[in-house]
Amino acid sequence: MLCLGIETSCDETALALVAEGHLIDEIIASQINLHAIFGGVVPELASREHGWHIPILFDRLMERNNLRATDLDYVAVSRGPGLLGSLLVGVAFAKGLALGLGKPVIGVNHLHSHLLATALDNDLRFPALGIVVSGGHTNIYRMEAPESIIQLGRTLDDAAGEAFDKVGHVLGFAYPAGKKIDDCAQAGCADARLLPRPYLDNDNLDFSFSGLKTAAILAIQELGLENAAADPQKSSQLNDFCASFNLAICETLGAKLERALRLNPDVKILLGAGGVAANSAVRKTLASLVAPERLLIPETGHCTDNAAMVAMAGYLLARRGFYHTLDFETVPRGVPVPQDMARNANIHSI
Ligand code: KG4
Ligand code: ZN
Repeated sequence: MLCLGIETSCDETALALVAEGHLIDEIIASQINLHAIFGGVVPELASREHGWHIPILFDRLMERNNLRATDLDYVAVSRGPGLLGSLLVGVAFAKGLALGLGKPVIGVNHLHSHLLATALDNDLRFPALGIVVSGGHTNIYRMEAPESIIQLGRTLDDAAGEAFDKVGHVLGFAYPAGKKIDDCAQAGCADARLLPRPYLDNDNLDFSFSGLKTAAILAIQELGLENAAADPQKSSQLNDFCASFNLAICETLGAKLERALRLNPDVKILLGAGGVAANSAVRKTLASLVAPERLLIPETGHCTDNAAMVAMAGYLLARRGFYHTLDFETVPRGVPVPQDMARNANIHSI
């Protein structure tokens, strides 16, 4: 089965092909440089860019793999959460392709596809515990199957990635700042007392990063590190600050995940996903929680938004008989993604 995956939920236009559970090829057009000028993603510009890029990327991907559109068996697309105008471009393209080819289409939950990206390099075992740490979300899930993913916790305000980006902005890094903070942190020495570990004094699995973001910005001002990224004389202090910030995020994520693992003793594996799972310290924190054979994190390029994860999620769902009728809706950020897949009762594979 050859499955096309399409990702346009934010500022990456990406397409990928998965056949029989293996990634065949992927192609991506990033808009990072465009949005960096504005310090964040401009939704109107993002959807316009997706509209320009998607047909070109599709032709290029098929051509370089000597494939025709009629070779596709199944079309999977990110349906949300994300920027509505951006999602609509990908979903309209996917529906048009499926309709023209007479092939099934599925609208994939973007957050679930981040988790299912771990299946690109590994066999999943259920039940699993998963965390998606991205620019818009910090959510903990219990996963019973690819189609049965239950949210156990979420951020009440800012996502961890948002905290990285906002704090990075004050330090003088271009958007998105997470990777740059991570790079500096690796050359720095963390002060465990500089920043708080927020929202741990409770018994739930939710997060709150807005207080940490404010505390970090105040510390930056007190230390005189505003725009330090542009000042080579401050690089050592900047590296130390970034290491302290990384540590505060990691210890907070680690504390809640430890609690989630305690509350779900039957889970076989722990999955880490989303852009912030590319962070070197976050990866070490996850590795400290379970034995190596019980931890799955995608390679860093498949932690940030990509289409391989969408194609893989589509493949896993298709294999189990799931699809959508053409009237499935696109879901903006903040609105729950409905569980409205149809199922072909004749397919029973696992
Ligand atoms: O998953 P993603 O590509 O997009 C969303 O669905 O949000 O995540 C993007 C986020 C950004 O906030 C970016 O700063 C962060 O992931 N990020 C990182 C790293 N690489 C990307 N944060 C910390 N360390 C990194 N190495
Ligand atoms: Zn994402």
